[in-house]
Amino acid sequence: MRARLDLYSRNTLKLGLFGANCSSGRAVTKVAERWSGSWPDSLRLARMADAAGIEFMLPVGRWKGYGGETDYQGATLESVTWAAGLLAATRRLTVFATVHAPLIHPIIAAKQFVTADHIGAGRFGLNIVCGWNEDEFDMFGVTMREHATRYEYAQEWLDAIKLAWEGGDDVDFDGRFIQLRQLRAKPKPFGGGRPIIMNAAASPTGQSFAIRNCDALFSMTPKGRLDEFAAHVVDVQALARAQGRAIDVYTVGVITCRPTRRDAESYYRHCVIDNADWAAVDHILAMRGVTPETYPDDYAERRAHQANGMGGVPIVGDPDDVADELARLSAAGARGIAVSFVNYLEELPFFCAEVLPRLERRGVRRAI
Ligand SMILES: Cc1cc2nc3c(=O)[nH]c(=O)nc-3n(C[C@H](O)[C@H](O)[C@H](O)COP(=O)(O)O)c2cc1C
Repeated sequence: MRARLDLYSRNTLKLGLFGANCSSGRAVTKVAERWSGSWPDSLRLARMADAAGIEFMLPVGRWKGYGGETDYQGATLESVTWAAGLLAATRRLTVFATVHAPLIHPIIAAKQFVTADHIGAGRFGLNIVCGWNEDEFDMFGVTMREHATRYEYAQEWLDAIKLAWEGGDDVDFDGRFIQLRQLRAKPKPFGGGRPIIMNAAASPTGQSFAIRNCDALFSMTPKGRLDEFAAHVVDVQALARAQGRAIDVYTVGVITCRPTRRDAESYYRHCVIDNADWAAVDHILAMRGVTPETYPDDYAERRAHQANGMGGVPIVGDPDDVADELARLSAAGARGIAVSFVNYLEELPFFCAEVLPRLERRGVRRAI
């Protein structure tokens, strides 16, 4: 389990790629080079990341595009099957699946996860999401539960999955939402452990769920407010310790790295201001109740932040700027960061060549 929790590396700051299973990835932009989200591109990216010692890939669980001119995230690869394929093609990478608990039966889910875990020899990870996007649930004909109940359901769902992973033969499960009779589930996860489990809740209810159940909590860093993030890490870890648990806190970033700061800033402006898919951005924000009427003072800022990478912390600059910011996040307590690029395949080689050695010199990563 230690190796799984370490994501198979000894680096202080773990790095992951976020959102590569979706068209446009995390950048709500119209630029022609925006991410395809295709299988061949995912596969090439995973192999490149694996060779460079990047620790993980985290997909988005998305069932329906957000419209706009690009139908942002309109083409998505289902994340468990995507993870299984990538695990078969890599050697070190941890690959997560992002799974909506209310949309898949726990026995099927437990079996899929075990299968992917065997394919990856223990490198499969689970990101549990409870859902927030009513459009998607409507498409399934499933009613989204009230917020607190979503997490009560997720608790039962995860308990049922752990029973399938760890329990003996012919056990019953009697929950409020889920009843299982004479459960049998074999094989068990790879090597006698279990997949690493993460969640990215923002609410107190959701974060309590993560603290009770998960190995990692992914939390957004408020832009320019690293001290708030650092305090959040301390709080979450103290709450976990009080329950006899340990949890790592990861964050989310959006990287625009170019040889000069000027080039980086200009590309950033080009993608997410001059060529943002504003209709998609407005739609995403409206789904969360964010409109010019509800947030008259800072709607423009929220729009730009959303276009940039769905709210991840923007890290824009030359390789020194980017390495400095990543090292600061590490010092603030982030165990790792899930990052995105406008075009992952085109931008990752420069990041690996220029930023990784700087992170080694700053003591947060080691050479592979
Ligand atoms: C890193 C990260 C990844 C997430 N991935 C997804 C996802 O793929 N699909 C989804 O529906 N929600 C996703 N979410 C949303 C969260 O699961 C959660 O619903 C949201 O942060 C609101 O928190 P709450 O449920 O505590 O209110 C993600 C959030 C973050 C920060």
